[in-house]
Amino acid sequence: MSKKNVAVIPGDGIGPEVIGATLKVLEKVAPNTFEFHEVAMGGNAIDKYGEPLPAESLKICQNAEATLLGAVGGPKWDNQPPEKRPERGLLGVRSGLEVFANIRPAKIFAPLASACPLRKDIAEKGIDFIIVRELTGGIYFGKHEAFKTPEGERAARDVMEYSEHEIRRIAHVAFKMAMGRRKIVTSIDKANILTSSRLWREIVEEVAKEYPEVKLNHLYVDNASMQLIRVPSEFDVIVTENTFGDILSDEASQIIGSIGMIPSASLGEGNRGFYEPIHGSAPDIAGQNKANPIGTILCGAMMLRYSFNMNAEADKIENAVDEVLKAGLRTPDIYTEGTKLITGSQMRDEIISRL
Ligand code: IPM
Ligand code: MG
Repeated sequence: MSKKNVAVIPGDGIGPEVIGATLKVLEKVAPNTFEFHEVAMGGNAIDKYGEPLPAESLKICQNAEATLLGAVGGPKWDNQPPEKRPERGLLGVRSGLEVFANIRPAKIFAPLASACPLRKDIAEKGIDFIIVRELTGGIYFGKHEAFKTPEGERAARDVMEYSEHEIRRIAHVAFKMAMGRRKIVTSIDKANILTSSRLWREIVEEVAKEYPEVKLNHLYVDNASMQLIRVPSEFDVIVTENTFGDILSDEASQIIGSIGMIPSASLGEGNRGFYEPIHGSAPDIAGQNKANPIGTILCGAMMLRYSFNMNAEADKIENAVDEVLKAGLRTPDIYTEGTKLITGSQMRDEIISRL
């Protein structure tokens, strides 16, 4: 049988560390199953090829069944012009793969309850929600412009634009997910101010009619950021536009303990997926063996589940992560008193030994 073609973007900062760990985990859980193709993207690609996403890199990703990414960016490239920043490469991959639905699960692992900064009575009610973030539209892909006013003052604008089909397809993803869960969708917008949000709300309500079993709530994004901390147990599936999803998923990561723990899957119409942890390249700890590889390792599990229908192997990885946490082993980001501090590579090996 031919091997499954997976593009791998180690990226910058801690990216190569967490990706290295993940490839080892995948090789252990499914030996000789994958053919990994390493791809240059981000700051490393700027250094090597003068651009964040060389055409060849995108082609390799487009030809693969799945793409795995560590992280991109870093202070070294902060002064690049906008179209030559590492992040632009990331957006290029997302849009080039047409993966418009970014699934970000926020679930509190029972052994990590002590890392949750919320009051005990709030955390104890259980936290298990999914953010479905629209990924290829909104301000991220709208017109960006720096200009001068007629008076000669410097000005800038970024356009938030959504068309009907973009909203409809992401809403369907959210409702379908909810059908397999607790059947609650919370759509988050700023419809009291933004015209694009009013369209968002209108379309989400139209789509909701096709899922009569699912309860639909609407929240304004400012209120939502508050409710996520106040009553996180009440959320099941959140659906929201690109920028709101970016911000709220960082908030979610702190609710469950660490940004190093959250994987994400970006999906389009078919099975092809793009898998990246929600954390950044953390240049402050790069190369120090401190990075928590769990977010990326869980991306590997999501890849097995969504792109390859290998649910048993995905379960194995998730269980191994659970076991390691139960054993009290912690990288610095999730360390609390009474647990055992280990390095990133030890975390990798501890997970592998439990597979
Ligand atoms: C994320 C990140 C990216 C984003 C950055 C690195 C461009 O914050 O995946 O959440 O804003 O989408
Ligand atoms: Mg983000």
